[in-house]
This record gives sequence, C-alpha cells and structure tokens, in this order.
Amino acid sequence: MNLGLKDRIAFVTGASRGIGCGIATALASEGVHLALFGRDIERCQEVGRALRQMHQELRIIERRVDLNQTHTISGAVRSAAEELDGIDILVNCAGGAYRGQLPEIPDQEWERWFQVKPIGLIRMTRECLPWLRRSDQARVVNIAGIFGREPAKFSVMGGPINMATLSVTKALANELGAQGITVNAINPGPTDTGRWRELVSVTARELGVPEAEAEMHMLREVPMGRVVKVQDIAALVLFLASSSAGMISGAAINIDGGLSRSI
Ligand SMILES: NC(=O)c1ccc[n+]([C@@H]2O[C@H](COP(=O)([O-])OP(=O)(O)OC[C@H]3O[C@@H](n4cnc5c(N)ncnc54)[C@H](OP(=O)(O)O)[C@@H]3O)[C@@H](O)[C@H]2O)c1
Repeated sequence: MNLGLKDRIAFVTGASRGIGCGIATALASEGVHLALFGRDIERCQEVGRALRQMHQELRIIERRVDLNQTHTISGAVRSAAEELDGIDILVNCAGGAYRGQLPEIPDQEWERWFQVKPIGLIRMTRECLPWLRRSDQARVVNIAGIFGREPAKFSVMGGPINMATLSVTKALANELGAQGITVNAINPGPTDTGRWRELVSVTARELGVPEAEAEMHMLREVPMGRVVKVQDIAALVLFLASSSAGMISGAAINIDGGLSRSI
C-alpha cells in the first residue's frame, strides 16, 4: 500500500525514547523528514544520528523542548519548521503519569503531568498550526491511553490525563476539520517500553517469581495474550498520517489486544 508519505515533514514529541522514538523510526522508513523533540537533547540526537545513518536522503533535526517550560516551545517549533520548510504531520507523544493512588500523589506531580499532556499538546498544536494549515495533507495524531476511557485502580492519574487528551482531540478535530487538518488519538494499552520492563521486574520481585511468569500474570486479562509493541502503534500512526486516512478525524483508536472492556 502506498501511504503517500514520502517527503512529508513530521514533528514528533517524546521522540527521545519509547513509543515516540518508534514512531519516528517508522516515519523515517516511509521517507518522512523529521523534527525530533524532547527535553533530553542528547538522546534525541542519538536517535537522529541512527536514523540519518539509515536514511541519508532524509533531513532529520532535533530540538530541545520542555513542555513544562512554555518559553521553550514556540522558538523550537518555529526554527524547526523554518529549517525543514513546513509541517505536515504532528505526533504528540510526550507524556506519562505518576503511578500511584490519590494520597501518594503530590500536587506538583498532578500539575507537572497535566502540563506535559494534555496542555503540552495544546501548546504544540497551536504553535504548529500556521504550518499545518499550509499542508495539503495535514495530520495531528495524539498518543493518549486506554485509561482515558477506563481508569485503572492502581493509577488514578492516567485516567484524567488521557481523558482530557481524548477530549482535546475531539474538540480540535471539530475546530480544524474545516482547515483540512485531521486530528485523531491512539490509545495504547500496556506497551513494551523501558517502563513496562521496569514494571515486570518490580512485579516479579513482589510475587517472588521469574520475570517471564510475572509478565504472563500481568497480561492475563489481554485477549491477544501479549504486550503491545511500539511497532503496533507506529503502524497506526503511519496509516492515520497517510493519504488514505483523509476522512478519519476525531477518532480514538485502542491498540490494546482487546484489553479494554467497553464497546
Ligand atoms: N508505555 C505504555 O504502556 C503507554 C500506555 C498508554 C499510553 N502511553 C503514552 O504514550 C506516550 C509515550 O509513552 P512511553 O511509554 O514511550 O514513555 P517514555 O518512554 O517514558 O517516554 C516519554 C517521552 O515523553 C517525553 N517527555 C516527558 N516529559 C516531558 C516534558 N516535560 N517535555 C517534553 N517531553 C517530555 C520524554 O522525553 P525527554 O525525557 O527527553 O523529555 C520521552 O521521550 C505517553 O504519552 C504515555 O502516556 C504509554
């Protein structure tokens, strides 16, 4: 299938590691020029270097952005858009949440993670808008999470943060549709990143069992019986960004192997 992505320009937040890094890698493999955003500029540069080695024809640049420090956002977006000469695709992937129950979570952590997502993605999208409006295939993809629909009992923060992200996605799809910009969200279930590996190790220690057994225990509610891979999410980003997905907007698509219970 020709995705029509060659020579498009994508901005990816959270590109320094995990899911964002996987999304950037998949976009590069389709011939997309990239701006990689993160606080950890050295890790972004490592990702950029590896991708440039594999795809010498691509323009791949890195910019430091701290979504908790608003003054870092607009200059980074503007200079990257000027250097790459446009923006066609914005993937808002930066985020996370403090794991824990209500009494354990300090106010600063609530403020910090809401600043990153969803407020950070609102700010990123606003800064990218002037360039997205000029694209003939403009796409925004927000990485939310299944807890936005079904809050988990072990982590109170993941629910409201991702619910707000889904609501912003829908609101922006309404607002930006008339400007030819689609806005969608992807809801990953537990995904095989560094964070998942740490969780498996902690659970193995708590249960006093080997890691493989702990992982099976953690995945017992997943009908497909395995953890989500970063590539599963990246594949959907490619499709949503593609020329074939021009009529998909305001959608929130789960990638969780059937874990969510709601319809
Ligand atoms: N992994 C999962 O199981 C899972 C499940 C559902 C949803 N998600 C969502 O998927 C997204 C990526 O998750 P992940 O697992 O890949 O997480 P991760 O490995 O912890 O990566 C988080 C990314 O967000 C960036 N980030 C964090 N705080 C930032 C800030 N203040 N300013 C700018 N960038 C910031 C980090 O970059 P720097 O450190 O360089 O700033 C990093 O690249 C998140 O939005 C997460 O909520 C993940």
